[in-house]
Amino acid sequence: MNILILGATGQVGFELLRALSPLGSLIAPTRAQLDLSSPDAVAGVLRAARPALIVNAAAWTAVDAAEAQREAAFRLNAELPAQLACFAAIAGIPVIHYSSDYVYPGDGDAPWREDSPTGPLSVYGQSKLAGDEAVMASGAEHLIFRTSWVYSARGSNFMKTMLRLGQERDSLKVVNDQIGAPTPARLIAEVTALAVYRQRLGRGIEGLYHLAPHGETSWHGFACEIFRRAAESGMALKLTPAQVAAIPGSDYPTPAQRPGNSRLCVDKLEADLGIDLPHWEPQLVLTLGECFA
Ligand SMILES: NC(=O)c1ccc[n+]([C@@H]2O[C@H](COP(=O)([O-])OP(=O)(O)OC[C@H]3O[C@@H](n4cnc5c(N)ncnc54)[C@H](OP(=O)(O)O)[C@@H]3O)[C@@H](O)[C@H]2O)c1
Repeated sequence: MNILILGATGQVGFELLRALSPLGSLIAPTRAQLDLSSPDAVAGVLRAARPALIVNAAAWTAVDAAEAQREAAFRLNAELPAQLACFAAIAGIPVIHYSSDYVYPGDGDAPWREDSPTGPLSVYGQSKLAGDEAVMASGAEHLIFRTSWVYSARGSNFMKTMLRLGQERDSLKVVNDQIGAPTPARLIAEVTALAVYRQRLGRGIEGLYHLAPHGETSWHGFACEIFRRAAESGMALKLTPAQVAAIPGSDYPTPAQRPGNSRLCVDKLEADLGIDLPHWEPQLVLTLGECFA
């Protein structure tokens, strides 16, 4: 069966290419082969690929830039998933899509559940929510994974930035009042593969699910753990966790407002898929291991 993966050069897409490889013939056009901002080009690839499953890991993920480039962010994050899901509904095939904790308003300290009220604080969050709503309304068999704080050994992400700054700087300030769970792209791809396999067996899951490891931390806590574990692995760093100052988000203004509470309740996914999601800390050790291999 043909599986069409969009965004395969991104963090999640790269891992999907590996995790889904035993499950079908993968078709994964790069940006040079398919500009996803062109609905006509997307329609042509959908017709030619004849997919039995569409997995959309492509997105506009430049959160701050989205504030000034609303139209481009909505094209990738809202109109593209709508187009994919519309095609899937007509073709009678399933679509898998990824979304974000940024669709929630970020207040309080209770983990968001799949039926919690949404209320994005940023254009990026609004565009992701519009994409989710379009997929859900399309009539296509769908699976949407809302995840948080994605990182991997490849691409640009918080862990990679910290490893670079840890070698360059002898002091750093990191925000400590935004709380969530760092999620490796590899874990997202592995869970996606399990879901596809279960679907193949006729015991698939469908609808909206949160996907993140257990536990919670702040960006400051995550940074300190990165420096501690990287030093343990033998990486030469100028920075130790003691030199990382904790600051409130108000001291680090950005064009897009970030949610303070990014906690995602994953009970529904664990129960329906029959899995136990891991804690974020051993997942960090695994991911750091890929950097030093
Ligand atoms: N990153 C996070 O912290 C985070 C948190 C929560 C949820 N998510 C969601 O998780 C999913 C995967 O995120 P990610 O971090 O893996 O994203 P990513 O690394 O930024 O990858 C995005 C992918 O989309 C492709 N893309 C973007 N615009 C394109 C265009 N016009 N034409 C062709 N390709 C285009 C990129 O291609 P190029 O490689 O050519 O640029 C790349 O392959 C997304 O739905 C995202 O919203 C991410």
